[in-house]
Amino acid sequence: MTAQPKKQSNQAEGGHSMYTCQKADEYIKKNRVDRADKPEFHLTTPVGWLNDPNGFSIYGGKAHLFYQFHPYSTEWGPMHWGHSSSKDFIKWEELPTALAPDSKFDSFGCFSGTAIENDGKHVLFYTGVVEEKLADGTKNVIQNQCMAVGDGISYEKISGNPVVDGKIMPEECSRADFRDPKVWKDEDGRYYMLTGNRTYDGIPQVVLFSSDDMYNWKFESVFAKDETGRFGVVWECPDYFEMDGHKLLIVSPQDMSADGEFHNGNNVVFFIGDVDEENHIFKYEKAVSVDSGFDFYAPQTIMTPDGRRVMIGWMQSWDSVNTLPRGQKWACMMSVPRELMISDGKLIQTPVRELCGYRQNKLVVNDTLRGEKTYEGINGRVIDMTVDIKKADCGHFTMHFAKDEIHETNVSYTPGTQMLEIDRTFAGWIRDTNCVRKVKIKNGNGLSKMRIVMDWNSIEIFVNDGEQVLSTVIYTPRNAQDIVFETDGCVELEVEKYDLNI
Ligand code: FRU
Repeated sequence: MTAQPKKQSNQAEGGHSMYTCQKADEYIKKNRVDRADKPEFHLTTPVGWLNDPNGFSIYGGKAHLFYQFHPYSTEWGPMHWGHSSSKDFIKWEELPTALAPDSKFDSFGCFSGTAIENDGKHVLFYTGVVEEKLADGTKNVIQNQCMAVGDGISYEKISGNPVVDGKIMPEECSRADFRDPKVWKDEDGRYYMLTGNRTYDGIPQVVLFSSDDMYNWKFESVFAKDETGRFGVVWECPDYFEMDGHKLLIVSPQDMSADGEFHNGNNVVFFIGDVDEENHIFKYEKAVSVDSGFDFYAPQTIMTPDGRRVMIGWMQSWDSVNTLPRGQKWACMMSVPRELMISDGKLIQTPVRELCGYRQNKLVVNDTLRGEKTYEGINGRVIDMTVDIKKADCGHFTMHFAKDEIHETNVSYTPGTQMLEIDRTFAGWIRDTNCVRKVKIKNGNGLSKMRIVMDWNSIEIFVNDGEQVLSTVIYTPRNAQDIVFETDGCVELEVEKYDLNI
């Protein structure tokens, strides 16, 4: 865990047997945050802190989403699993806390993992974090993989935990950074588990295990690793699946340095590649950045019963987590769930189609913009808006969102360089070290369309029908509702805007 100093410092000494799901639920009952203070449709906690999505799955006819949860504070702490379910990915129903760090195999936290359905049961795989005392008296935090079985409401950890002890890995694999199991049942009837890892000498990788019965696991392979030095230090939260004839591995690398479409810091990387089935080794052909905004990390995907691959991520960055408005009692939220596709070798992401069912008050504006303008009714903070840029003869075209006299978050396009930039310098944060993020439009023809989804504290921008995405959290006071369009030249545009009524 050397790569996560910030989080370690939040942990109390000596384990957490004082934490149980029941205590968490009692605390939630007394301290619940009013819905009116939260986003409308981006999942967040009843109270307290949230990070990664966990156990994203379909069970009992609903989508279930668990999440890394610390109910007692707005900072990361001893990790529980919170739990919600939804019929449409937009309206979420809160369920009891599913896991608490109450056992000797997870006393330092129940970290991220998966859920699968097996024999009618909902089975969770997660990382149990424990502290180990070494022979010389020093202590070490280590991570193993654990299992719990439930019915969609309550979950019981099995007695044989941990089911995968890091000792069964080759010696060079770090036991301190060994987490976030992704488990699936393959066509061959066997279970596979892919887990984030690094070697002790700093190469990020994912490791694969297999099992006939979900309880007894054997090490299979180092499934993929970074042989280039480009992709960070630890690969967190792996996901692996086939889509549109391609094999895809998603990882969340910590601490990358900027390179092509990847920005500084943590990124989410989509590797498109192929697998040597005999040796269980994934070779990537292409690496794609999933999100070019500030806030998207640790996503998980599912296949819906109607055959869509849907992804949800934590809409936050570890670099800006401690910058909430004073007095806010909930911290962090999930992204809007996105449908994924590969078309002409390109990754396409669009908000789940269910969101369109909540559109209201359609407004369409066609204009040739010169200078600065607002349009009647084109404003708000909970909206779904598409801007078609038909012609841009200008140095820049800028939209100012969540604007009042003091605040604004600006999305600006420069046709000359084909760069799109989001700037939240004046969004109203109490502390923010990273206020501007830029990305080059990839298609070679520049920006022609943006779909913008806003929900009080966030702006998600789907560029050119989902070829690129920028997700950004803003903590701007709620009365900043204007949208101003502005250019130094002439822009022909069509704006189609809906309010979202959840
Ligand atoms: C990713 C992550 C995971 C880990 C979890 C702990 O954001 O670091 O690797 O399981 O958060 O909360």
